[in-house]
Amino acid sequence: MKLDKNGNVGFSAEMPVPSLASQDHVLVKMHSAPMNPSDCYNMAGTYGPQPDKYPHVAGFEGSGVVCQIHENAPENVKALLGKNVSILSFGTYAEYATTHFSMIITLPENVSLEQGAMTVVNPLTALAMITRAKELGATAIIINAAGSQLGKMAIRLALKDDIIPICTVRKAENVQPLKEEFEGLHYVFSTHDPENFDMLMKETCKAKKPSVCLDAIGGESTGKMVSFLADKGTIIVYGGLSGQPLAGLNVADILSRYCRVEGFLLSNWIPEQMKDPVAYFTFIET
Ligand SMILES: NC(=O)c1ccc[n+]([C@@H]2O[C@H](COP(=O)([O-])OP(=O)(O)OC[C@H]3O[C@@H](n4cnc5c(N)ncnc54)[C@H](OP(=O)(O)O)[C@@H]3O)[C@@H](O)[C@H]2O)c1
Repeated sequence: MKLDKNGNVGFSAEMPVPSLASQDHVLVKMHSAPMNPSDCYNMAGTYGPQPDKYPHVAGFEGSGVVCQIHENAPENVKALLGKNVSILSFGTYAEYATTHFSMIITLPENVSLEQGAMTVVNPLTALAMITRAKELGATAIIINAAGSQLGKMAIRLALKDDIIPICTVRKAENVQPLKEEFEGLHYVFSTHDPENFDMLMKETCKAKKPSVCLDAIGGESTGKMVSFLADKGTIIVYGGLSGQPLAGLNVADILSRYCRVEGFLLSNWIPEQMKDPVAYFTFIET
């Protein structure tokens, strides 16, 4: 699947096999690749890293087998040859993709290539953001769009770390299934009835004092979620599902209550972590 410079998405059977950009890159024979929201935004040209040359093969993650390494590859990269891996890359919707070794997770033997195709983007994002919430001292966190795959991963990780998740969904029928999916998840509120939603969120947040919100929605939702945060709370914006600019922020929440807005993007986070590769690989292996 490829993208031209005018944003047209097309299919081509004939693209050259990509070459290795450095001794730290490997070539992967692709098996499976998912379509995440970020792939759709990328193809629409609205968000995230954009291609630096066209035609561009779409697809940010997927799984496959490492089939080629550079002749001067270091030992840790040589060890990847023949391994089943999950990768982050520009161009996974093709038979072959290259990637830097920092963007690879080696799949355990009991995980199939199909199961492993989504091991990087959502799991690593959820893990990184819950780690950030812990750094910020959160004992309770708000998770909106909580029925998303990433939202569910964040719920699971929060519960494991004894952080209370306070979840929001937009459809009433999604409240009970989400509660039933996670033992220990008590707070799931639907925005479909705004008055009731506000009342339940205010009451719960007054009692549990969430100091972090993971915001996948943006738009007016961001300001609303900040209003529910404890003083000095942080909203981590990591998605724009509403398609709207951040809005509804109450000046007093920022000035008097010292709430803060920060962003998270996995493709920026990984290079930051790679400044300390040992710590990074220890982190993703745990
Ligand atoms: N920043 C990063 O590095 C990074 C990395 C990975 C993912 N993400 C972001 O994480 C988000 C979730 O990804 P995913 O793959 O887990 O998504 P997903 O499984 O496809 O789920 C999308 C969810 O969003 C809900 N939703 C859609 N539009 C909404 C709106 N306007 N208001 C409220 N809820 C809405 C849907 O609810 P319904 O069930 O009601 O339809 C659904 O539960 C996306 O925004 C994605 O871009 C960011």
